[in-house]
Amino acid sequence: MMKNMSIGNIVISREEIDKRVKELGALISKDYKDKEIVAVGILKGCFVFMSDIIREISTDVETYFMQVSSYGSGTESSGKIHIKKDIDIDIRGKDVIIFEDIIDSGNTLSVLVPMLEERGPKSVKVCTLLSKPSRRIVEFEADYTGFEIPDKFIIGYGLDCDEKFRQLPY
Ligand code: IMP
Ligand code: MG
Repeated sequence: MMKNMSIGNIVISREEIDKRVKELGALISKDYKDKEIVAVGILKGCFVFMSDIIREISTDVETYFMQVSSYGSGTESSGKIHIKKDIDIDIRGKDVIIFEDIIDSGNTLSVLVPMLEERGPKSVKVCTLLSKPSRRIVEFEADYTGFEIPDKFIIGYGLDCDEKFRQLPY
């Protein structure tokens, strides 16, 4: 049994996630037909979503990971991020898709996307499982979004609270 397990409502069920992940995978497969995808997962939250969605993608996929933290809290719109772990390949001329668990303030991706674009890839798109549009401090819209959710703190399927609960399947 997980300790301190006081989970509230199930916001999105395992079945709903499975269905949506399949849909997004099919859409990406269609959009990137005959292309090679450089998938860049943003650790740690991405790891469950990314491992499921890449198995729904029928074109060639290479997987890489980055770990970043945004400076300051939600009240700060100064776009600065700290790269704790970078990808170890040259993305020049590549078609990159960034995989995120959730877009909240928009701070992280609004800095990370232009940063990767400066490295000269052919394209950079963003696929996020979740988005909380009402929480944006910086305008940012993903190219592929699983679910838009209200301003609630949620856990499971890779998302944590104090590093716990990432294992929940819903
Ligand atoms: P932002 O868009 O730069 O604010 O960063 C989003 C990051 O905040 C995500 O990658 C998560 O790590 C974290 N986050 C935001 N909302 C939640 C939530 O409801 N549950 C768990 N983590 C969250
Ligand atoms: Mg995260």
